[in-house]
Amino acid sequence: MSNTIQKDLNYKKFVIDSKLQYFKPHASKIEKTFAEEIYSSLNRNSKFITPKFFYDKKGSDLFEQICTLPEYYPTRTEIAILKSLQTELPMYLDDTFRLVELGSGASVKTRIILDIFATMQASVEYIPIDISEILAESSEQLLKDYDNLHITGIIDTYEGGLEFLENYDDKKNLIIFLGSSFGNFSPNEGKSFLQKINSTMKPNDLFLIGLDLVKETHILESAYDDSQGITAQFNLNVLSRINDELEANFDLNNFSHYSTYNEEYQRVEMYLKSLTSQSVVVSKSNLLLHLEKNELIHTEHSHKFNLSQVRNLLASTGFKIHHVWLDDKKHFSLTLASKN
Ligand code: AVJ
Repeated sequence: MSNTIQKDLNYKKFVIDSKLQYFKPHASKIEKTFAEEIYSSLNRNSKFITPKFFYDKKGSDLFEQICTLPEYYPTRTEIAILKSLQTELPMYLDDTFRLVELGSGASVKTRIILDIFATMQASVEYIPIDISEILAESSEQLLKDYDNLHITGIIDTYEGGLEFLENYDDKKNLIIFLGSSFGNFSPNEGKSFLQKINSTMKPNDLFLIGLDLVKETHILESAYDDSQGITAQFNLNVLSRINDELEANFDLNNFSHYSTYNEEYQRVEMYLKSLTSQSVVVSKSNLLLHLEKNELIHTEHSHKFNLSQVRNLLASTGFKIHHVWLDDKKHFSLTLASKN
Protein backbone atom coordinates (compact mmCIF):
# COMPACT_ATOMS: atom_id res chain seq x y z
CA MET A 1 0.00 0.00 0.00
CA SER A 2 1.41 3.36 -0.82
CA ASN A 3 -0.04 6.15 1.10
CA THR A 4 0.97 9.74 0.60
CA ILE A 5 1.74 11.25 3.94
CA GLN A 6 2.83 14.84 3.60
CA LYS A 7 5.38 14.87 6.43
CA ASP A 8 7.71 17.36 4.95
CA LEU A 9 6.52 20.85 5.73
CA ASN A 10 9.69 22.40 4.34
CA TYR A 11 8.30 21.98 0.83
CA LYS A 12 5.50 23.84 -0.84
CA LYS A 13 3.18 21.79 -3.03
CA PHE A 14 1.91 23.19 -6.34
CA VAL A 15 -0.92 21.22 -7.90
CA ILE A 16 -1.24 22.04 -11.60
CA ASP A 17 -3.89 19.42 -12.43
CA SER A 18 -4.70 15.78 -11.70
CA LYS A 19 -1.58 14.64 -13.57
CA LEU A 20 0.99 17.21 -12.60
CA GLN A 21 2.26 18.59 -9.32
CA TYR A 22 5.49 20.03 -8.01
CA PHE A 23 7.25 20.27 -4.70
CA LYS A 24 9.65 23.09 -4.06
CA PRO A 25 11.52 23.94 -0.85
CA HIS A 26 10.15 27.02 0.93
CA ALA A 27 13.55 28.51 1.44
CA SER A 28 16.49 27.07 -0.41
CA LYS A 29 19.53 26.43 1.73
CA ILE A 30 22.03 29.24 1.87
CA GLU A 31 23.85 28.88 -1.41
CA LYS A 32 26.60 31.00 -2.91
CA THR A 33 25.43 33.14 -5.80
CA PHE A 34 26.77 32.74 -9.36
CA ALA A 35 28.74 35.99 -8.89
CA GLU A 36 30.32 34.73 -5.65
CA GLU A 37 31.22 31.33 -7.10
CA ILE A 38 32.83 32.93 -10.14
CA TYR A 39 34.74 35.34 -7.92
CA SER A 40 36.28 32.56 -5.86
CA SER A 41 36.97 30.18 -8.72
CA LEU A 42 38.69 32.79 -10.95
CA ASN A 43 40.46 34.88 -8.30
CA ARG A 44 43.20 32.28 -7.77
CA ASN A 45 46.26 30.80 -9.43
CA SER A 46 44.64 27.65 -10.81
CA LYS A 47 41.45 29.05 -12.26
CA PHE A 48 38.30 27.09 -12.88
CA ILE A 49 34.60 27.45 -13.71
CA THR A 50 32.37 24.63 -12.46
CA PRO A 51 30.60 22.65 -15.22
CA LYS A 52 27.12 23.21 -13.73
CA PHE A 53 27.32 26.74 -15.18
CA PHE A 54 27.43 25.40 -18.76
CA TYR A 55 23.70 24.85 -18.80
CA ASP A 56 21.95 28.12 -19.51
CA LYS A 57 19.41 27.98 -22.38
CA LYS A 58 22.12 28.27 -25.07
CA GLY A 59 24.41 25.80 -23.28
CA SER A 60 21.61 23.26 -22.87
CA ASP A 61 20.81 23.56 -26.58
CA LEU A 62 24.48 23.08 -27.47
CA PHE A 63 24.64 20.02 -25.22
CA GLU A 64 21.62 18.56 -27.04
CA GLN A 65 23.56 19.08 -30.28
CA ILE A 66 26.66 17.40 -28.81
CA CYS A 67 24.51 14.34 -28.05
CA THR A 68 23.83 13.87 -31.77
CA LEU A 69 27.43 14.33 -32.98
CA PRO A 70 29.08 11.35 -34.72
CA GLU A 71 32.08 11.64 -32.38
CA TYR A 72 30.04 11.83 -29.15
CA TYR A 73 29.31 8.12 -28.65
CA PRO A 74 27.94 8.16 -25.03
CA THR A 75 24.33 9.25 -25.69
CA ARG A 76 23.83 7.05 -28.74
CA THR A 77 25.39 4.07 -27.00
CA GLU A 78 23.40 4.43 -23.79
CA ILE A 79 20.18 4.73 -25.81
CA ALA A 80 21.04 1.52 -27.67
CA ILE A 81 21.62 -0.32 -24.38
CA LEU A 82 18.35 1.00 -22.91
CA LYS A 83 16.44 -0.12 -25.99
CA SER A 84 17.85 -3.60 -25.59
CA LEU A 85 16.36 -3.85 -22.07
CA GLN A 86 12.70 -3.97 -23.10
CA THR A 87 12.29 -7.55 -21.94
CA GLU A 88 15.00 -7.73 -19.29
CA LEU A 89 14.31 -4.67 -17.17
CA PRO A 90 10.69 -5.68 -16.42
CA MET A 91 12.03 -8.85 -14.79
CA TYR A 92 13.36 -6.67 -11.97
CA LEU A 93 10.22 -4.52 -11.69
CA ASP A 94 6.55 -4.96 -10.93
CA ASP A 95 3.49 -2.76 -11.09
CA THR A 96 4.22 -1.10 -7.74
CA PHE A 97 7.35 0.70 -8.97
CA ARG A 98 7.54 4.32 -10.01
CA LEU A 99 10.32 5.97 -12.02
CA VAL A 100 12.49 8.58 -10.28
CA GLU A 101 15.06 10.47 -12.35
CA LEU A 102 17.99 12.56 -11.15
CA GLY A 103 17.96 15.26 -13.81
CA SER A 104 14.87 16.36 -15.67
CA GLY A 105 13.88 13.99 -18.38
CA ALA A 106 13.70 16.01 -21.52
CA SER A 107 15.44 13.18 -23.29
CA VAL A 108 14.62 10.11 -25.33
CA LYS A 109 16.17 8.03 -22.56
CA THR A 110 13.40 8.86 -20.08
CA ARG A 111 10.88 7.96 -22.74
CA ILE A 112 12.44 4.56 -23.40
CA ILE A 113 12.08 3.69 -19.71
CA LEU A 114 8.58 5.18 -19.49
CA ASP A 115 7.66 2.98 -22.47
CA ILE A 116 8.93 -0.06 -20.56
CA PHE A 117 6.86 0.94 -17.49
CA ALA A 118 3.82 1.43 -19.72
CA THR A 119 4.01 -2.20 -20.84
CA MET A 120 3.59 -3.29 -17.21
CA GLN A 121 1.41 -0.61 -15.66
CA ALA A 122 -1.93 0.94 -16.59
CA SER A 123 -0.88 4.15 -14.91
CA VAL A 124 2.76 5.23 -14.63
CA GLU A 125 4.18 7.56 -12.00
CA TYR A 126 7.29 9.61 -12.76
CA ILE A 127 9.23 11.81 -10.34
CA PRO A 128 11.94 13.97 -11.91
CA ILE A 129 14.30 15.71 -9.47
CA ASP A 130 16.03 18.79 -10.83
CA ILE A 131 17.15 22.13 -9.48
CA SER A 132 16.26 23.79 -12.78
CA GLU A 133 12.75 25.03 -13.56
CA ILE A 134 13.25 23.49 -17.03
CA LEU A 135 11.72 20.52 -15.23
CA ALA A 136 8.31 22.16 -15.68
CA GLU A 137 8.73 22.45 -19.45
CA SER A 138 9.88 18.89 -19.99
CA SER A 139 7.12 17.52 -17.71
CA GLU A 140 4.42 19.24 -19.72
CA GLN A 141 5.92 17.87 -22.92
CA LEU A 142 5.89 14.33 -21.52
CA LEU A 143 2.25 14.64 -20.46
CA LYS A 144 1.28 15.56 -24.01
CA ASP A 145 2.77 12.32 -25.26
CA TYR A 146 1.75 9.87 -22.52
CA ASP A 147 -1.89 9.32 -21.62
CA ASN A 148 -1.65 7.55 -18.30
CA LEU A 149 1.32 9.36 -16.83
CA HIS A 150 1.34 11.13 -13.46
CA ILE A 151 4.23 13.46 -12.71
CA THR A 152 5.41 14.82 -9.39
CA GLY A 153 8.37 17.13 -9.99
CA ILE A 154 10.76 17.96 -7.18
CA ILE A 155 12.51 21.24 -7.86
CA ASP A 156 15.54 20.89 -5.63
CA THR A 157 19.12 19.59 -5.53
CA TYR A 158 19.49 15.83 -6.04
CA GLU A 159 20.36 15.40 -2.35
CA GLY A 160 17.38 17.47 -1.22
CA GLY A 161 15.03 15.65 -3.57
CA LEU A 162 16.23 12.23 -2.43
CA GLU A 163 15.67 13.12 1.23
CA PHE A 164 12.21 14.36 0.35
CA LEU A 165 11.46 11.09 -1.43
CA GLU A 166 12.68 9.06 1.54
CA ASN A 167 9.98 10.65 3.70
CA TYR A 168 7.30 10.85 1.01
CA ASP A 169 5.68 7.41 1.00
CA ASP A 170 6.60 3.73 0.77
CA LYS A 171 6.08 3.09 -2.91
CA LYS A 172 9.03 1.35 -4.61
CA ASN A 173 11.36 3.55 -6.65
CA LEU A 174 13.53 2.84 -9.65
CA ILE A 175 16.01 5.72 -9.38
CA ILE A 176 17.89 6.47 -12.60
CA PHE A 177 21.03 8.58 -13.04
CA LEU A 178 21.99 8.42 -16.70
CA GLY A 179 24.40 9.87 -19.23
CA SER A 180 27.53 9.42 -17.12
CA SER A 181 26.69 12.72 -15.43
CA PHE A 182 28.37 11.00 -12.49
CA GLY A 183 31.67 11.48 -14.37
CA ASN A 184 31.74 15.18 -13.46
CA PHE A 185 32.26 14.37 -9.77
CA SER A 186 35.73 13.98 -8.30
CA PRO A 187 36.28 10.44 -6.94
CA ASN A 188 35.54 11.59 -3.37
CA GLU A 189 32.46 13.62 -4.27
CA GLY A 190 31.22 10.71 -6.36
CA LYS A 191 31.53 8.26 -3.48
CA SER A 192 29.70 10.58 -1.07
CA PHE A 193 26.98 11.07 -3.64
CA LEU A 194 26.46 7.31 -4.09
CA GLN A 195 26.43 6.88 -0.29
CA LYS A 196 23.79 9.57 -0.10
CA ILE A 197 21.62 7.83 -2.70
CA ASN A 198 22.12 4.52 -0.92
CA SER A 199 21.19 5.95 2.48
CA THR A 200 17.90 7.36 1.20
CA MET A 201 16.88 4.16 -0.62
CA LYS A 202 14.41 1.63 0.78
CA PRO A 203 15.26 -2.10 0.80
CA ASN A 204 13.23 -2.78 -2.36
CA ASP A 205 14.24 0.29 -4.31
CA LEU A 206 16.43 -0.06 -7.41
CA PHE A 207 19.14 2.21 -8.79
CA LEU A 208 20.20 2.35 -12.45
CA ILE A 209 23.36 4.30 -13.27
CA GLY A 210 24.96 4.99 -16.66
CA LEU A 211 28.75 5.19 -16.58
CA ASP A 212 31.15 5.83 -19.43
CA LEU A 213 34.03 3.39 -19.81
CA VAL A 214 37.74 3.74 -20.50
CA LYS A 215 38.58 3.20 -24.17
CA GLU A 216 41.18 4.22 -26.75
CA THR A 217 42.42 7.76 -26.22
CA HIS A 218 41.61 8.92 -29.76
CA ILE A 219 37.94 7.97 -29.35
CA LEU A 220 37.73 9.84 -26.04
CA GLU A 221 39.55 12.87 -27.32
CA SER A 222 37.48 13.29 -30.47
CA ALA A 223 34.26 12.91 -28.43
CA TYR A 224 35.27 16.08 -26.57
CA ASP A 225 36.77 17.96 -29.54
CA ASP A 226 34.43 17.32 -32.47
CA SER A 227 35.13 18.29 -36.07
CA GLN A 228 32.16 20.70 -36.24
CA GLY A 229 33.41 22.62 -33.20
CA ILE A 230 30.16 22.24 -31.25
CA THR A 231 31.97 21.16 -28.07
CA ALA A 232 34.22 24.22 -28.47
CA GLN A 233 31.12 26.45 -28.68
CA PHE A 234 29.64 24.69 -25.65
CA ASN A 235 32.81 25.32 -23.64
CA LEU A 236 33.19 28.96 -24.77
CA ASN A 237 29.50 29.65 -24.13
CA VAL A 238 30.13 29.72 -20.39
CA LEU A 239 32.14 32.92 -20.96
CA SER A 240 29.20 34.49 -22.89
CA ARG A 241 26.97 33.55 -19.99
CA ILE A 242 29.33 35.29 -17.55
CA ASN A 243 29.42 38.33 -19.87
CA ASP A 244 25.62 38.49 -19.95
CA GLU A 245 24.74 37.66 -16.38
CA LEU A 246 27.69 39.12 -14.48
CA GLU A 247 28.48 42.12 -16.70
CA ALA A 248 31.86 40.84 -17.78
CA ASN A 249 33.90 41.59 -20.90
CA PHE A 250 35.45 38.28 -21.94
CA ASP A 251 36.38 38.51 -25.63
CA LEU A 252 35.62 35.02 -26.93
CA ASN A 253 38.10 35.50 -29.79
CA ASN A 254 40.87 35.57 -27.19
CA PHE A 255 40.11 32.05 -25.92
CA SER A 256 40.18 28.58 -27.39
CA HIS A 257 38.72 25.23 -26.44
CA TYR A 258 41.29 22.74 -25.20
CA SER A 259 40.59 19.18 -24.07
CA THR A 260 42.79 16.20 -23.38
CA TYR A 261 42.48 12.70 -21.95
CA ASN A 262 44.45 12.24 -18.75
CA GLU A 263 45.24 8.52 -18.62
CA GLU A 264 46.51 8.50 -15.05
CA TYR A 265 43.32 10.04 -13.68
CA GLN A 266 41.10 8.38 -16.29
CA ARG A 267 39.34 11.58 -17.22
CA VAL A 268 38.82 13.92 -20.11
CA GLU A 269 39.84 17.39 -18.94
CA MET A 270 38.38 20.48 -20.58
CA TYR A 271 39.84 23.95 -20.42
CA LEU A 272 39.51 27.41 -21.93
CA LYS A 273 42.91 28.62 -23.04
CA SER A 274 43.80 32.32 -22.98
CA LEU A 275 45.36 33.15 -26.37
CA THR A 276 46.93 36.42 -25.22
CA SER A 277 48.02 38.13 -22.05
CA GLN A 278 44.79 39.92 -21.15
CA SER A 279 42.70 41.55 -18.45
CA VAL A 280 39.00 40.93 -17.98
CA VAL A 281 36.49 42.69 -15.75
CA VAL A 282 33.65 40.73 -14.11
CA SER A 283 31.64 43.63 -12.69
CA LYS A 284 29.06 41.80 -10.62
CA SER A 285 31.79 39.68 -9.02
CA ASN A 286 33.87 42.79 -8.29
CA LEU A 287 36.74 41.12 -10.07
CA LEU A 288 39.56 42.36 -12.27
CA LEU A 289 41.13 39.25 -13.69
CA HIS A 290 44.50 38.88 -15.33
CA LEU A 291 45.30 35.97 -17.62
CA GLU A 292 48.71 35.09 -19.05
CA LYS A 293 49.13 33.95 -22.63
CA ASN A 294 48.39 30.16 -22.70
CA GLU A 295 46.94 30.20 -19.19
CA LEU A 296 44.19 27.58 -18.75
CA ILE A 297 40.82 27.93 -17.04
CA HIS A 298 39.61 24.48 -16.10
CA THR A 299 35.93 23.86 -16.95
CA GLU A 300 35.21 20.13 -16.74
CA HIS A 301 36.38 16.68 -15.71
CA SER A 302 34.63 13.74 -17.30
CA HIS A 303 35.76 10.57 -15.55
CA LYS A 304 35.87 7.21 -17.32
CA PHE A 305 35.76 3.85 -15.55
CA ASN A 306 36.72 0.27 -16.16
CA LEU A 307 34.34 -2.53 -15.23
CA SER A 308 36.11 -3.55 -12.05
CA GLN A 309 36.02 0.09 -10.92
CA VAL A 310 32.27 0.23 -11.60
CA ARG A 311 31.78 -2.84 -9.44
CA ASN A 312 34.08 -1.59 -6.66
CA LEU A 313 32.52 1.85 -6.65
CA LEU A 314 29.03 0.48 -6.13
CA ALA A 315 30.10 -2.24 -3.67
CA SER A 316 32.08 0.23 -1.56
CA THR A 317 29.11 2.59 -1.30
CA GLY A 318 26.67 -0.02 0.00
CA PHE A 319 25.18 -1.46 -3.18
CA LYS A 320 24.52 -4.98 -4.37
CA ILE A 321 24.77 -5.24 -8.16
CA HIS A 322 21.98 -7.08 -10.01
CA HIS A 323 23.25 -6.63 -13.54
CA VAL A 324 25.75 -4.67 -15.64
CA TRP A 325 24.69 -4.14 -19.27
CA LEU A 326 27.15 -3.12 -21.98
CA ASP A 327 27.09 -2.36 -25.69
CA ASP A 328 28.96 -4.61 -28.12
CA LYS A 329 32.05 -2.41 -28.14
CA LYS A 330 32.05 -2.11 -24.32
CA HIS A 331 32.03 1.68 -24.61
CA PHE A 332 29.34 2.39 -22.03
CA SER A 333 27.76 0.64 -19.03
CA LEU A 334 24.37 0.57 -17.33
CA THR A 335 24.34 -0.93 -13.86
CA LEU A 336 21.27 -1.98 -11.90
CA ALA A 337 21.77 -2.20 -8.15
CA SER A 338 19.93 -2.15 -4.85
CA LYS A 339 20.85 -1.57 -1.22
CA ASN A 340 23.07 -4.30 0.12
C1 AVJ B 1 26.75 15.78 -19.30
C2 AVJ B 1 28.71 15.57 -17.96
C3 AVJ B 1 27.86 13.68 -19.12
O1 AVJ B 1 30.97 14.70 -19.57
O2 AVJ B 1 30.31 13.78 -21.42
C4 AVJ B 1 29.88 16.67 -23.16
C5 AVJ B 1 29.17 16.85 -20.67
N1 AVJ B 1 31.02 17.99 -21.93
N2 AVJ B 1 30.84 17.23 -23.91
C6 AVJ B 1 30.16 14.58 -20.49
C7 AVJ B 1 30.01 17.16 -21.90
C8 AVJ B 1 31.52 18.04 -23.17
C9 AVJ B 1 28.87 15.40 -20.45
N3 AVJ B 1 28.07 15.13 -19.21
